[in-house]
Amino acid sequence: MAQQEDVFKKLVSHCKEYGFVFPSSEIYDGLGAVYDYGQNGVELKNNIKKYWWDSMTLLNENVVGIDSAIFMHPTIWKASGHVDAFNDPLIDNKDSKKRYRADVLIEEQIAKLEDKINKEIEKAAKRFGDAFDEKQFRETNSRVLENQAKINELHARFAKALNDNDLADLRQIILDYEIVCPVSGTRNWTDVRQFNLMFATEMGSTADGAMKVYLRPETAQGIFVNFLNVQKSGRMKIPFGIAQIGKAFRNEIVARQFIFRMREFEQMEMQFFVRPGEELDWFAKWKEMRLKWHKALELGDAKYRYHDHEKLAHYANAATDIEFEMPFGFKEVEGIHSRTDFDLSSHEKFSGKKIHYFDPEQNQSYIPYVVETSIGVDRMFLSIMAGSYCEETLEGGDTRVVLKLPAALAPVKLAILPLVKKDGLPEKALEIMETLKFNFNCRYDEKDTVGKRYRRQDAIGTPYCVTVDYDSLNDNCVTIRYRDTMEQERVPIAELGNIISDKVSMKNLLKKIAES
Ligand code: GAP
Repeated sequence: MAQQEDVFKKLVSHCKEYGFVFPSSEIYDGLGAVYDYGQNGVELKNNIKKYWWDSMTLLNENVVGIDSAIFMHPTIWKASGHVDAFNDPLIDNKDSKKRYRADVLIEEQIAKLEDKINKEIEKAAKRFGDAFDEKQFRETNSRVLENQAKINELHARFAKALNDNDLADLRQIILDYEIVCPVSGTRNWTDVRQFNLMFATEMGSTADGAMKVYLRPETAQGIFVNFLNVQKSGRMKIPFGIAQIGKAFRNEIVARQFIFRMREFEQMEMQFFVRPGEELDWFAKWKEMRLKWHKALELGDAKYRYHDHEKLAHYANAATDIEFEMPFGFKEVEGIHSRTDFDLSSHEKFSGKKIHYFDPEQNQSYIPYVVETSIGVDRMFLSIMAGSYCEETLEGGDTRVVLKLPAALAPVKLAILPLVKKDGLPEKALEIMETLKFNFNCRYDEKDTVGKRYRRQDAIGTPYCVTVDYDSLNDNCVTIRYRDTMEQERVPIAELGNIISDKVSMKNLLKKIAES
């Protein structure tokens, strides 16, 4: 675990050092849980968004896109339930004046007990070697059993308090389990209060009677309220989907783990409208399709898993998360929910406008059911960075840091390197750049030794480098060097465009999903 934390720290500093992600407002000491994407980060992020957008709108002829505004009528958030229920339970420590999420403090206590069990198991595994039987040890070791019983008891009480929205008991659990503030080390806690996660601002001048509006906490509501607009103007027939990519804002209290939990982030959401009664079949289809989309990137199938929800929100009749193995454990990257007709019905009620669909095949009108796929761009970015970051020891003892990014997503596809900065080699290299820059993102680099230049490109995940040498001036060939294998091959300059276009093509990535 400590080793994994170490990898995570290195990843965060790598993101900064190589122009992927910077802390926001850094020269003013930063702004909590807000980040900026740098010159390489923005390219990777744009490629992720294109991969998602094309997979939705090109591979599915019945999915179309929209781009709705961040500001929406405030009643929308009443109808969606966000005004009343989009809350986190908060508690303050009176000595440190630090604020925490009460549920997170309790979850961390459970994790501590789990750690104790894991340490016992690790110790025993070392002691008994091959003869170690973990199942038997868990069932018989008194310390493990004692801690497991504590976890079960705490878990049951915690789940009940959350279910009953019993804030007093959440506080009592914190007191009973002697949970201390990590900063002051004391148990001097305030009451637990609900805290709404939406950012609010005002629209219009105060003299005119300003209206309180929210920065949207999800993009999905922009799709729901445009359901009829898209359906009618596009003559869409059910089943069909509406996709959207855009910013969302949440005033997260425990905002940690870099870009995993941010206050300003981006979502890629798709609402798929279906006939009532067919939603669970569509839920199963989208669940499978979305995992294929992730796996086509070849970061390792074992790094993904589903987490089916046992406890469902009142409006959902099925829900699952796609989790990725981050350096800090398996974490949700995407949620897939069967949301029934909750949102459209609620908007019908609050707006007073009929939101029905007339189904010509069934000759009846109904409120469609919805299957939603919702993924955070930033979490996807983090999963790709974490899955691609490698430190390799080379022959001779040197190490190289390489980002083995999927070639179609890499910020730079090809680096063009003249062997030396003279004798017409830079001119030849720039000539290649001039031809290929229309096909994909190329970078020219003539500074330092070729070895150092390769390392710089490895660190930003450039899948191909070509070196222009003296022979190139006569034979019109260059040496192409492959990032992952470091193998080199001599190829004609005239063929470079085709060779690389094929390897970095988004089209081939999409074909892989369609054929899998
Ligand atoms: N419309 C459904 C919805 O918004 P969600 O589970 O709250 O569901 C969906 O969010 C996805 O958005 C998550 O799986 C995650 O990838 C991303 N996400 C949510 N909160 C986030 C945050 N604070 N920072 C970064 N990404 C976030």
